[in-house]
Amino acid sequence: MQIQTLPLACTSLKPIVNISPQPLKERKTYSMPPEKVEIFKSLEGWASEKVLPMLKPVEQSWQPQTFLPDSSLPTGEFCDQVKALRDRTKEIPDEYFVVLVGNMITEEALPSYQTALNNQDGIRDDYGASPNPWAVWLRGWSAEENRHGDLLKTYLYLSGRVDMERIERTIHYLIAAGWDAQLENNPYFGSVYTSFQERATFMAHGNIARLAKKSGDQVLAQICGTIAADEKRHEKVYTRIVEKLLEVDPSCAMVAIGDMLEKKIVMPAHLMYDGEDPNLFQHFSAVLQRIGVYSTDDFADILEFLIGQWGLEKLEGLTSHGKKAQDFVCGLTPRIRKFQERAHDQAHKMKPYGIKFSWIFNKELVL
Ligand SMILES: [Fe+2]
Ligand SMILES: [Fe+2]
Repeated sequence: MQIQTLPLACTSLKPIVNISPQPLKERKTYSMPPEKVEIFKSLEGWASEKVLPMLKPVEQSWQPQTFLPDSSLPTGEFCDQVKALRDRTKEIPDEYFVVLVGNMITEEALPSYQTALNNQDGIRDDYGASPNPWAVWLRGWSAEENRHGDLLKTYLYLSGRVDMERIERTIHYLIAAGWDAQLENNPYFGSVYTSFQERATFMAHGNIARLAKKSGDQVLAQICGTIAADEKRHEKVYTRIVEKLLEVDPSCAMVAIGDMLEKKIVMPAHLMYDGEDPNLFQHFSAVLQRIGVYSTDDFADILEFLIGQWGLEKLEGLTSHGKKAQDFVCGLTPRIRKFQERAHDQAHKMKPYGIKFSWIFNKELVL
């Protein structure tokens, strides 16, 4: 999982001052009414048939080693492969590295996501190895996601282009800080959030793959493209779950989509901190946006796509609460685009300013 907030990457390019990592606000928890647990129980057969086959069998899955220098080779040959990797990454601009590092750090906070997602009523793994299909999916998903951070982190380490100690410190802070996406232990919210997020991650990794290719690193392009393909498959699963919820419980599912968008779909790594820059997440988001890896416009595209995919404009027979949510969600895209246009115009009027990133040895990037 990975990338941001107008939800997602809402960042005008202005200096952001005095925003330190926020203490967690009081949150609504366990908001799903107990009778809805039965809906998820009744969908277990469906999940076995439609969700579990979307996990790739381990023996057919790629592993980080597929893309990395082979340490089982004699020292000289291994070093030649590391040197080739360093030669390939030599010409990649620093700003791409900031984006790659931020994405990798986001992937590395997987323990926080697994914890929160496994705390949803009706689908949780009660003891850690449950055969319940919802639990099997979450463990399989975590195992697939786990390779993303591992691979990117090792690649970045071998490149020599980034300050690993600062990066590791950021991961340490982030996992300790947790993740607050306001899912309320409610799988309606969890499925909606992950649908948006997996698609956002798919787009971000795909865009970095293109930039890596342009910079001459075909292997990095292949790595990011491979991760993007995983995210795409995950997106298909979560959007399929929401589709099913819209079929069996349309009003509640529609209200969940509206509520989630109203609360803003925050980036998984929104609590990132490196011990130095209190606005690190905003600065990282600004770089993402500037080099075209992920922006508020992309978020609007995702929203438009999902409205169409889920047929939200055509949903009928909704309760008044559901109808209200439908009107809100279906009218949101133009509002986000207008907001983005205004932010863009504002950013153009501002003088560029420099921000130092500890991840790249405190080199300054102009935002
Ligand atoms: Fe991922
Ligand atoms: Fe994913």
